[in-house]
Amino acid sequence: MDEVTISAMTEADYDEVHALWLTIRGFGIRALDDSREDIARFIRRNPTTSVVARQGGRIVGSILCGSDGRQGALYHVCVARECRRRGIGTRMVSYCMQQLRQMGINRVALIAFTRNEVGNAFWKKIGWNEKSDVNYYTFELNDKNITRFIGEEHEHS
Ligand SMILES: CC(C)(COP(=O)(O)OP(=O)(O)OC[C@H]1O[C@@H](n2cnc3c(N)ncnc32)[C@H](O)[C@@H]1OP(=O)(O)O)[C@@H](O)C(=O)NCCC(=O)NCCS
Repeated sequence: MDEVTISAMTEADYDEVHALWLTIRGFGIRALDDSREDIARFIRRNPTTSVVARQGGRIVGSILCGSDGRQGALYHVCVARECRRRGIGTRMVSYCMQQLRQMGINRVALIAFTRNEVGNAFWKKIGWNEKSDVNYYTFELNDKNITRFIGEEHEHS
Protein backbone atom coordinates (compact mmCIF):
# COMPACT_ATOMS: atom_id res chain seq x y z
CA MET A 1 0.00 0.00 0.00
CA ASP A 2 1.32 3.47 -0.86
CA GLU A 3 2.65 5.63 1.94
CA VAL A 4 0.44 8.47 3.21
CA THR A 5 2.06 11.90 3.08
CA ILE A 6 0.88 14.98 4.97
CA SER A 7 1.53 18.43 3.54
CA ALA A 8 0.19 21.99 3.50
CA MET A 9 -3.01 22.50 1.52
CA THR A 10 -2.70 24.95 -1.35
CA GLU A 11 -5.29 26.66 -3.54
CA ALA A 12 -4.52 24.10 -6.25
CA ASP A 13 -5.93 21.35 -4.01
CA TYR A 14 -9.39 22.94 -3.89
CA ASP A 15 -11.17 20.79 -6.48
CA GLU A 16 -10.02 17.51 -4.96
CA VAL A 17 -10.64 18.61 -1.38
CA HIS A 18 -14.09 19.95 -2.26
CA ALA A 19 -14.93 16.64 -3.97
CA LEU A 20 -13.83 14.82 -0.78
CA TRP A 21 -16.06 17.05 1.39
CA LEU A 22 -19.04 16.09 -0.74
CA THR A 23 -18.52 12.44 0.25
CA ILE A 24 -18.48 13.12 4.01
CA ARG A 25 -21.90 12.39 5.49
CA GLY A 26 -23.00 15.04 7.96
CA PHE A 27 -20.70 17.79 6.69
CA GLY A 28 -22.33 21.20 6.25
CA ILE A 29 -20.94 22.83 3.11
CA ARG A 30 -21.54 26.58 2.87
CA ALA A 31 -22.33 28.22 -0.44
CA LEU A 32 -19.92 31.13 0.09
CA ASP A 33 -17.47 30.09 2.81
CA ASP A 34 -16.63 26.83 1.02
CA SER A 35 -16.47 28.31 -2.48
CA ARG A 36 -13.18 28.35 -4.40
CA GLU A 37 -12.84 32.11 -3.87
CA ASP A 38 -13.39 32.06 -0.12
CA ILE A 39 -11.18 29.03 0.46
CA ALA A 40 -8.45 30.74 -1.57
CA ARG A 41 -8.82 33.80 0.66
CA PHE A 42 -8.63 31.60 3.77
CA ILE A 43 -5.46 29.88 2.52
CA ARG A 44 -3.84 33.20 1.56
CA ARG A 45 -4.50 34.42 5.09
CA ASN A 46 -3.31 31.13 6.63
CA PRO A 47 -0.79 29.77 4.13
CA THR A 48 0.90 27.13 6.30
CA THR A 49 -1.78 25.69 8.55
CA SER A 50 -4.30 23.80 6.42
CA VAL A 51 -3.39 20.29 5.40
CA VAL A 52 -3.98 17.48 2.94
CA ALA A 53 -3.14 13.79 3.26
CA ARG A 54 -2.17 12.08 0.01
CA GLN A 55 -1.88 8.43 -0.84
CA GLY A 56 -0.73 7.36 -4.27
CA GLY A 57 -1.18 10.92 -5.49
CA ARG A 58 -4.82 11.07 -4.39
CA ILE A 59 -6.07 13.32 -1.57
CA VAL A 60 -7.54 11.07 1.14
CA GLY A 61 -7.88 13.59 3.95
CA SER A 62 -7.83 17.26 4.73
CA ILE A 63 -8.25 19.92 7.39
CA LEU A 64 -8.86 23.64 7.03
CA CYS A 65 -6.89 25.27 9.80
CA GLY A 66 -6.28 28.90 10.52
CA SER A 67 -5.76 31.45 13.22
CA ASP A 68 -7.18 34.89 13.91
CA GLY A 69 -3.92 35.77 15.67
CA ARG A 70 -5.17 34.68 19.09
CA GLN A 71 -6.65 31.22 18.71
CA GLY A 72 -6.48 28.49 16.11
CA ALA A 73 -9.51 26.86 14.52
CA LEU A 74 -10.04 23.60 12.65
CA TYR A 75 -12.77 23.14 10.07
CA HIS A 76 -13.85 20.26 7.84
CA VAL A 77 -11.60 17.65 9.41
CA CYS A 78 -12.07 14.56 7.25
CA VAL A 79 -10.57 11.33 6.03
CA ALA A 80 -11.98 9.33 3.11
CA ARG A 81 -14.17 6.55 4.50
CA GLU A 82 -12.01 3.71 3.14
CA CYS A 83 -8.86 5.20 4.69
CA ARG A 84 -10.08 5.67 8.26
CA ARG A 85 -8.68 4.10 11.43
CA ARG A 86 -5.13 4.19 10.10
CA GLY A 87 -3.98 7.24 12.03
CA ILE A 88 -4.35 9.73 9.17
CA GLY A 89 -6.74 11.98 11.12
CA THR A 90 -4.39 12.03 14.09
CA ARG A 91 -1.39 12.84 11.90
CA MET A 92 -3.20 15.70 10.16
CA VAL A 93 -4.36 17.23 13.45
CA SER A 94 -0.79 16.99 14.83
CA TYR A 95 0.50 18.79 11.74
CA CYS A 96 -1.99 21.63 12.22
CA MET A 97 -1.20 21.93 15.92
CA GLN A 98 2.52 22.04 15.20
CA GLN A 99 2.04 24.81 12.63
CA LEU A 100 -0.09 26.81 15.08
CA ARG A 101 2.49 26.41 17.84
CA GLN A 102 5.18 27.72 15.51
CA MET A 103 3.05 30.85 15.02
CA GLY A 104 2.84 31.37 18.80
CA ILE A 105 -0.79 30.29 19.04
CA ASN A 106 -1.59 28.69 22.40
CA ARG A 107 -5.06 27.23 21.95
CA VAL A 108 -7.00 25.63 19.13
CA ALA A 109 -10.74 25.00 18.96
CA LEU A 110 -13.30 23.32 16.76
CA ILE A 111 -17.00 22.58 16.64
CA ALA A 112 -18.33 19.02 16.50
CA PHE A 113 -22.04 18.39 16.14
CA THR A 114 -23.26 16.64 19.28
CA ARG A 115 -24.78 13.90 17.08
CA ASN A 116 -21.40 13.14 15.45
CA GLU A 117 -20.44 10.03 17.41
CA VAL A 118 -17.36 9.24 15.34
CA GLY A 119 -16.07 12.81 15.48
CA ASN A 120 -16.63 13.13 19.22
CA ALA A 121 -14.97 9.74 19.89
CA PHE A 122 -12.00 10.87 17.80
CA TRP A 123 -11.47 14.21 19.61
CA LYS A 124 -11.74 12.61 23.02
CA LYS A 125 -9.34 9.82 22.06
CA ILE A 126 -6.69 12.25 20.88
CA GLY A 127 -6.89 14.27 24.08
CA TRP A 128 -9.07 17.27 23.27
CA ASN A 129 -11.27 18.76 25.99
CA GLU A 130 -15.01 18.95 25.52
CA LYS A 131 -16.35 22.29 26.77
CA SER A 132 -19.70 21.82 28.44
CA ASP A 133 -19.83 25.28 30.04
CA VAL A 134 -20.24 27.39 26.90
CA ASN A 135 -22.98 28.21 24.45
CA TYR A 136 -22.00 28.71 20.85
CA TYR A 137 -23.44 31.84 19.17
CA THR A 138 -23.49 32.79 15.51
CA PHE A 139 -25.05 35.60 13.48
CA GLU A 140 -25.49 35.25 9.74
CA LEU A 141 -24.01 38.24 7.90
CA ASN A 142 -24.97 37.10 4.41
CA ASP A 143 -28.15 35.18 3.62
CA LYS A 144 -26.56 33.77 0.45
CA ASN A 145 -24.21 31.66 2.58
CA ILE A 146 -26.60 28.69 2.63
CA THR A 147 -25.42 25.45 4.27
CA ARG A 148 -25.98 22.17 2.44
CA PHE A 149 -25.73 19.11 4.67
CA ILE A 150 -24.14 16.14 2.93
CA GLY A 151 -26.17 12.96 3.06
CA GLU A 152 -29.37 14.74 4.01
CA GLU A 153 -32.13 15.71 1.64
CA HIS A 154 -33.00 19.21 2.78
CA GLU A 155 -31.01 22.42 2.97
CA HIS A 156 -30.61 24.55 6.09
CA SER A 157 -29.55 28.15 6.33
C1 LIG B 1 -13.04 11.78 12.52
C2 LIG B 1 -12.08 11.31 11.41
C3 LIG B 1 -11.41 12.51 10.77
C4 LIG B 1 -11.01 10.41 12.07
O1 LIG B 1 -10.05 10.08 11.08
P1 LIG B 1 -9.20 8.73 11.19
O2 LIG B 1 -8.07 8.85 10.22
O3 LIG B 1 -10.08 7.55 11.05
O4 LIG B 1 -8.68 8.83 12.69
P2 LIG B 1 -7.50 7.98 13.37
O5 LIG B 1 -7.26 6.72 12.60
O6 LIG B 1 -6.35 8.89 13.60
O7 LIG B 1 -8.20 7.62 14.77
C5 LIG B 1 -7.62 7.92 16.03
C6 LIG B 1 -8.48 7.34 17.14
O8 LIG B 1 -9.76 7.99 17.18
C7 LIG B 1 -10.75 7.04 17.60
N1 LIG B 1 -11.72 6.83 16.52
C8 LIG B 1 -11.60 7.15 15.21
N2 LIG B 1 -12.69 6.75 14.53
C9 LIG B 1 -13.51 6.16 15.43
C10 LIG B 1 -14.76 5.52 15.33
N3 LIG B 1 -15.40 5.38 14.13
N4 LIG B 1 -15.33 5.01 16.45
C11 LIG B 1 -14.70 5.10 17.65
N5 LIG B 1 -13.48 5.69 17.79
C12 LIG B 1 -12.90 6.21 16.71
C13 LIG B 1 -10.04 5.72 17.82
O9 LIG B 1 -9.69 5.63 19.19
C14 LIG B 1 -8.81 5.88 16.95
O10 LIG B 1 -7.73 5.08 17.38
P3 LIG B 1 -7.71 3.49 17.05
O11 LIG B 1 -8.08 3.32 15.59
O12 LIG B 1 -6.29 3.10 17.36
O13 LIG B 1 -8.72 2.87 17.96
C15 LIG B 1 -12.82 10.46 10.34
O14 LIG B 1 -13.57 9.44 10.99
C16 LIG B 1 -13.79 11.26 9.51
O15 LIG B 1 -13.44 11.84 8.50
N6 LIG B 1 -15.07 11.30 9.95
C17 LIG B 1 -16.12 12.04 9.21
C18 LIG B 1 -15.94 13.53 9.33
C19 LIG B 1 -15.97 13.98 10.78
O16 LIG B 1 -16.79 13.56 11.57
N7 LIG B 1 -15.01 14.87 11.11
C20 LIG B 1 -14.93 15.46 12.43
C21 LIG B 1 -15.81 16.63 12.47
S1 LIG B 1 -15.85 17.38 14.09
